[in-house]
Amino acid sequence: MAKYKIAWLPGDGIGIDVLNAAKIVLDELKLDAEYIPGEIGWEFWCKEGNALPERTIELLKKTDCCLFGAITSKPKEEAEAELDLSLKGKGYVYYSPIVKLRQLFNLRTNLRPCKAYPGNPLNYRDDIDLVVFRENTEDLYSGVEFHPLPQEVMDVLLKNHKSMKKFEKTSLDDMAVSLRIVTRKACQNIVRDAFEYAKKHKRRSVTVVEKPNVIRETSGLMIREARKIAREYPGIPLWETNIDAMCMWLVKNPQDYDVLVTSNMFGDIVSDLCAQLVGGLGFACSGNIGDDYAVFEPTHGSAPKYAGMNKVNPIATFLSAKLMLDWLRETEKANRLENAIAAVIAEGKVRAYDMGGSSTTTQVAEEVARKL
Ligand code: NAI
Ligand code: MG
Repeated sequence: MAKYKIAWLPGDGIGIDVLNAAKIVLDELKLDAEYIPGEIGWEFWCKEGNALPERTIELLKKTDCCLFGAITSKPKEEAEAELDLSLKGKGYVYYSPIVKLRQLFNLRTNLRPCKAYPGNPLNYRDDIDLVVFRENTEDLYSGVEFHPLPQEVMDVLLKNHKSMKKFEKTSLDDMAVSLRIVTRKACQNIVRDAFEYAKKHKRRSVTVVEKPNVIRETSGLMIREARKIAREYPGIPLWETNIDAMCMWLVKNPQDYDVLVTSNMFGDIVSDLCAQLVGGLGFACSGNIGDDYAVFEPTHGSAPKYAGMNKVNPIATFLSAKLMLDWLRETEKANRLENAIAAVIAEGKVRAYDMGGSSTTTQVAEEVARKL
């Protein structure tokens, strides 16, 4: 029996191209793993009314972790229009399978390293090495939203908060509310993950990115918990910045920052900014990590216009596989894979279109495999 069971979810569009490429590289690494394919994505929404079928969830439960490609999702109306005729009008509602996965397996930490590999013509600078820790389950993504606002919710808010007064005359239908819910436990978990990572990888600093001067309670809770936890890591300074200023600093001096930690929405934004500093979607890897399960994926989507063309850059997926190897404590293999990727980038002979080259997805994979 193989040492690891890895759920293999290509999903839609270029998710299939990049996972095929990842297979070439992982085979070369001779990871002692069984890769078990699972079904996820748009096709299953259309055919079954569920983009994340129950059998896929069962598969994930039987595996150690998962490598995931990408999925297509569409707005509500379009989703309904493409649903199989036999399922229409039966109450099927589209939800994002990746958001669902995060919640089902409590994949509470979103890890997004953004490192500039020298020789990448898309680098903003060559000395950037950022790691973003984004809380993955709460905040504005809690899914607690109202439109129109129910009268009883309005009443409770009016009764409990004087700032509601200015909305008193707005009709309930002209108002939408999305709740930003943040728990102490989640703040502690994400900050601790960031500090543990900083300690393990000998990082210089941890920066907590919030907006406590305006969003006093939720951002405030995060900052207060971060300060407490920081005391347990005396060698690693805690820096505090506001999300808006952080965006400016990242454009001005990205090399000064190291580990960033933040809540879900700000993390979504700031991690995309960081990713673009080091080459964009072709390089942006991620891990969704829980206490006993993890899903690794490139952060790009299914890029329908390139689907099946063997054209897109698979490096984001290789770097995601590298994170997976780290998580499995296959450190030697993880380092070898990263070195091979870095060598291919440095050499610059084999490049996908986004780097200005004309190599195919498979050719990039084969070159990384050769370096291994
Ligand atoms: P996208 O990330 O799929 O593609 C946007 C553009 O970025 C592409 O057209 C291409 O020019 C470039 N790009 C993406 N990946 C690349 C790669 N590996 N190498 C080189 N260039 C690359 O985002 P888009 O077009 O907004 O969304 C397409 C579909 O993907 C939508 O249905 C969306 O909902 C879904 N999506 C899924 C995600 C996921 O599976 N986690 C994340 C983001 C979008
Ligand atoms: Mg995003």
